[in-house]
Amino acid sequence: MSNRGTIHKAVIPVAGLGTRFLPATKATPKEMLPVVDKPAIQYVVEEAVAAGINDVLFVTGRNKDSLENHFDRAPSLERTLAERGAFEMQSEISELADLAAMHYVRQGVPMGLGHAVSMAKEHVGNQAFAVLLGDDLVDAKTPVLPDMFAAQAKFGGSILALMEVPEDQIHLYGCAAVVPTDNPDIVRVTELVEKPAAGTAPSNLAVIGRYVIDPAIFSLLENLAPGRGGEIQLTDALASLIDMPAESGGGVHAVVFRGKRYDTGDKLSYLKSVVSIALDRDDLGPDLRAWLTSYLAGKI
Ligand code: UTP
Repeated sequence: MSNRGTIHKAVIPVAGLGTRFLPATKATPKEMLPVVDKPAIQYVVEEAVAAGINDVLFVTGRNKDSLENHFDRAPSLERTLAERGAFEMQSEISELADLAAMHYVRQGVPMGLGHAVSMAKEHVGNQAFAVLLGDDLVDAKTPVLPDMFAAQAKFGGSILALMEVPEDQIHLYGCAAVVPTDNPDIVRVTELVEKPAAGTAPSNLAVIGRYVIDPAIFSLLENLAPGRGGEIQLTDALASLIDMPAESGGGVHAVVFRGKRYDTGDKLSYLKSVVSIALDRDDLGPDLRAWLTSYLAGKI
């Protein structure tokens, strides 16, 4: 069956252990770390909603209560803000619960991203769906989901977002070999490798944390043996979709993303996201820029 058309549902896996960000992530999910004054996950949900998503399924693990609370109403806080006359903040806080229909499923044991996505089978049903990694921030000024949704409507199957990275970093990502299509912004994926060993990568195109996936992925995930790192790898199931016929939900294309993107699960990239987003804000940017300039000049 071929699945084309409007994408309404997003799956956001947030059940990882966040070991690269310990000890901050011992009791707090990395997706709740603040980027200026919002948790990282709020940017991700806002990005999905801006692209037309109205239904979000979080795949959660232990310690995710704060995330569920963040997207719920907070009556006593809202009352206190109203009593203090902070009406703007009150509505900002209450609207978080109405961004989209929010659903939660537990992963239990974090056995890998592919395993996390397989938890969404019942909820997703038979339509193509989006997957957004909760620790991957895409700058709102350079969104990629609309282009991916348009590519899915045109080509069907599944759509990845790829980003060129320096050759000495490709081993940190899933990597794609591609061929051009008649559309200069879209490529066809011919091979996918999760975190290729140094010197073996088929390209310098890295898979970033935005996907549009055909539901044919679920039966592939069910039968998938653990891959790299002993985890059930989403990349391995996506690789199997490449050569499947379009009538069965096969075919993988990709949009090459040229905007700004941060991995907030990585300390250095997280710091860059905070500085970059703060510099872009009218309320903080000018003062932060002046301070940074003096600081880097050794004047502070
Ligand atoms: P990562 O590999 O970046 O997450 O997975 P991690 O395992 O938490 O990271 P480190 O290496 O230990 O620091 C990418 C996304 O997939 C989710 C993570 O929460 C993150 O958003 N994930 C990963 C799951 O939901 N379940 C898993 O089993 C693995």
